[in-house]
Amino acid sequence: MPEFRVETPQRCYPAIVERGIVSRTAKYLPPKAGKVFVVSTEDVWRHQGEVLANALASVSHEALFLPGGEERKRLAPLEELAEEMLERGADRTSMVIAYGGGIVNDMAGFLAAIFMRGIPVVQIPTTLLAQVDAAIGGKTGVNLLGGKNLLGSFHQPLAVLIDPALLDTLPDREYRAGLYEIIKAGIIREVGLFEFLEDCSAEVLAREPDAVDRIVADSVRMKAEVVSADEREGDLRRILNFGHTFGHALEAETHYTRFLHGEAVAWGMRAAVHLGRLTGHVGAQDGGRILAMLETYGPIPPLDGISAENLFARLAHDKKTVQGNVHFVLPVRIGEVTVISGVAEKLVRESIEQALP
Ligand SMILES: NC(=O)c1ccc[n+]([C@@H]2O[C@H](COP(=O)([O-])OP(=O)(O)OC[C@H]3O[C@@H](n4cnc5c(N)ncnc54)[C@H](O)[C@@H]3O)[C@@H](O)[C@H]2O)c1
Ligand SMILES: [Zn+2]
Repeated sequence: MPEFRVETPQRCYPAIVERGIVSRTAKYLPPKAGKVFVVSTEDVWRHQGEVLANALASVSHEALFLPGGEERKRLAPLEELAEEMLERGADRTSMVIAYGGGIVNDMAGFLAAIFMRGIPVVQIPTTLLAQVDAAIGGKTGVNLLGGKNLLGSFHQPLAVLIDPALLDTLPDREYRAGLYEIIKAGIIREVGLFEFLEDCSAEVLAREPDAVDRIVADSVRMKAEVVSADEREGDLRRILNFGHTFGHALEAETHYTRFLHGEAVAWGMRAAVHLGRLTGHVGAQDGGRILAMLETYGPIPPLDGISAENLFARLAHDKKTVQGNVHFVLPVRIGEVTVISGVAEKLVRESIEQALP
């Protein structure tokens, strides 16, 4: 099964895509590790806890639970968890296994980053979005009232264990939201993946194991390559933000309640295609293929009542705005995007209007 190297200045580690790998988790823990703290949520544990608990039967471990939900992705629950770890005998030799969706990966990763100034973490992502994106690259953190992921650090894991079998219990909406990040991977760098998603949409949507394993592996390889080439928010890693500048504006405007992250990114990719058309970066044919792909894996929830003007105002507040300059990742052709700034406001407004129904 495919194993990809993630090479960063902080650490080099494997991201392994393998059905059933969770049952072999113990093999990936350092032999001298002290107590293992599994950090999950009660929801994930109910669906998929047993397989990990069995895998750790011979390892000294404790399971701890975070509250789920974006609004609880805050520092306070981490402080409580850290106190609980200490009460249960955690010390510098302890380690964390992050077992859950992107929220758990980010929060448990951050807990490991700051507990006693840093203990190791193994990431075991359980949502499609986390398997292909959140768990790889070492970004960890929590939200502030003023914005998402504003408190955090880079803390690279010892390993990322990606088990597509865990996705069997994932609700359909969460699965499709993750697929949009995979579509993004195809658009920005992976022509073969994009074509597979075009040709085999029925198999992908039916979660046929061979199709799922392939699209997950392709996306993980892409993310591992990009992160290895550019760990921090440099030029290459910026391409991962395709669809995200517009998407973040939509998430913020709807207070993170109407759209899942992947759904907002799907809308953002649509807007980016329109902007790419207006600026002349992408032609009608490739732009049309991207829009058709988004339709095939859609629909996203309805966009009624959302104001184009408000979305435009939100763009200026994007965290990745550099000195007031909004950067846009625009499609050039399938498998290639470009990062530009200084786009005329009029064109940005027009692309938002075209992307709203
Ligand atoms: N660090 C990064 O690079 C990065 C990248 C992308 C996203 N993120 C973060 O990821 C978060 C979103 O992650 P998400 O979409 O995975 O959401 P999530 O963590 O909230 O999980 C979504 C839902 O799926 C449930 N779930 C998880 N695994 C399951 C399974 N196997 N079976 C059944 N239900 C399951 C969870 O309980 C939850 O209700 C955001 O906070 C975002 O900021 C981080
Ligand atoms: Zn994303």
